[in-house]
Amino acid sequence: MAVQRPLAAIVLAAGEGTRMRSATPKVLHPLAGRPMLAHLVDALVALPLERVVLVVGHRAEQVRTAMLDALGTATPVDFVEQRVQRGTGDATAVALGAFPEDDGLDEDDVLVLVGDVPLLRTETVEALLAHHRRTDAAATLLTTHLADPAGYGRIVRDARGGVVRIVEQADATDEERAITEINPAIYCFRRSLLAPALRRLTPANAQGEYYLTDVIAVLHDAGHTVAAIAVDDPFECMGVNDRTQLALAEAALRDRINLAWMRAGVTMVDPATTYVDSGVVLESDVRILPNTILEGSTTIATGAIVGPDVRLVDTEVGAGATVSHTVARGATIGSDCTVGPYVSLRVGTRLAAGAHVGTFVETKNAQIGEGAKVPHLAYVGDASVGPRANVGAGTITANYDGRSKHRTEIGADARIGSNTVLRAPVRIGDGAYTAAGSVVTHDVPPGALAKGVPAEIDEGWADRLDEGN
Ligand code: UD1
Ligand code: CA
Repeated sequence: MAVQRPLAAIVLAAGEGTRMRSATPKVLHPLAGRPMLAHLVDALVALPLERVVLVVGHRAEQVRTAMLDALGTATPVDFVEQRVQRGTGDATAVALGAFPEDDGLDEDDVLVLVGDVPLLRTETVEALLAHHRRTDAAATLLTTHLADPAGYGRIVRDARGGVVRIVEQADATDEERAITEINPAIYCFRRSLLAPALRRLTPANAQGEYYLTDVIAVLHDAGHTVAAIAVDDPFECMGVNDRTQLALAEAALRDRINLAWMRAGVTMVDPATTYVDSGVVLESDVRILPNTILEGSTTIATGAIVGPDVRLVDTEVGAGATVSHTVARGATIGSDCTVGPYVSLRVGTRLAAGAHVGTFVETKNAQIGEGAKVPHLAYVGDASVGPRANVGAGTITANYDGRSKHRTEIGADARIGSNTVLRAPVRIGDGAYTAAGSVVTHDVPPGALAKGVPAEIDEGWADRLDEGN
């Protein structure tokens, strides 16, 4: 009969992660654009937890701020500070100390996890929990078999196969080092038994630390049940301690993300060169061509074709749009737009439906109207371009006078001739024209022509066009 007790989770993330050789705390190193610790918390909060406690220490404030930022306010987590990093056992004791003595939940279960296992899935924690409750054990641990177990704690079993203790690599005999069943450091404990067991730990080991792993021997030796459940997918239990493991974890996570999107109806011509951050949202029938990197909060609507050689950061792509050889950051690309090749869309670019931005064009803080075209070799910054307008090759919005930025407004149906310089602030009226090579320093009324350097204005020019001027 499974025993249902309330559940809390403690995540150990106070260590520096010296093997990363980084100024950034290990648990904040991103995988698929999200701190590795946030991935783990994501997997946990899907469970019915009473509370989640993150133990922080090294650069505690930085970790706290980054985690609050990554998780948002919808995910309530508590932070507890372990001021001196004296080992995983000490970190767990510090976390338990933060639980109120008289909360009446002394008989509950507590998950304890190291913070550097970003690939762990909710289903696996559920399986651990189910096994723990089925066996009514004092402690239940995950285990897995690795061809190369180096660096991990090894699971020592007795002749009948029961878990007796965990031995750290640094403390293991040659015989123990040959054991391939490892400790992923993902456990479930009966809380009332964990606290006294932690008090029994000593730092009499190779690293001079209080090892949480020693709790297993303490409980076993006291006659309590220690249960274990094996996981097949070794990546799930993978600890990230250095940059090579970080790269392996990134690749494994990428595969997982790509697989999920393909199952949801996205075509990836080459998943091996398709990089999708965990915060990206893709609709079905999106088609992604090779060498495409989708970052941050990027979204792509149905029917869009993105790639090859595209990097989109926090960018929205509308239905049916085509984007190739492009870098975009903080941009909105409307439905049925065509963008590229060789385009840089910078922050604040908004392309209305059916707009076209072509070869060697840079835009920034620019609104391009419905059906408008900027086909080649242009800089459009701090500008708006009206619907159906055409911006000729070589056009530059000279938005900066050395002190501040100014806006250029181009009206609907305007025609900007090749190599026009628009000296902002300046307005080009609806249906107005500029002649090739003009330097426009004054507003051009609707329907007029601006011509020359500096441009002279020929009013009513557009109306006379049909009459051959
Ligand atoms: C630990 C386990 C090992 C297991 C491995 C799985 C121990 C003693 N060893 O080793 O059996 O195979 O994880 O990946 O538990 N931390 C603190 N405070 C501390 C020390 C560590 O919060 O005082 C945190 C770290 O930030 C880290 C986690 O605990 O997130 C694990 O520490 P780490 O040094 O990576 O332990 P391992 O040597 O990998
Ligand atoms: Ca580790």
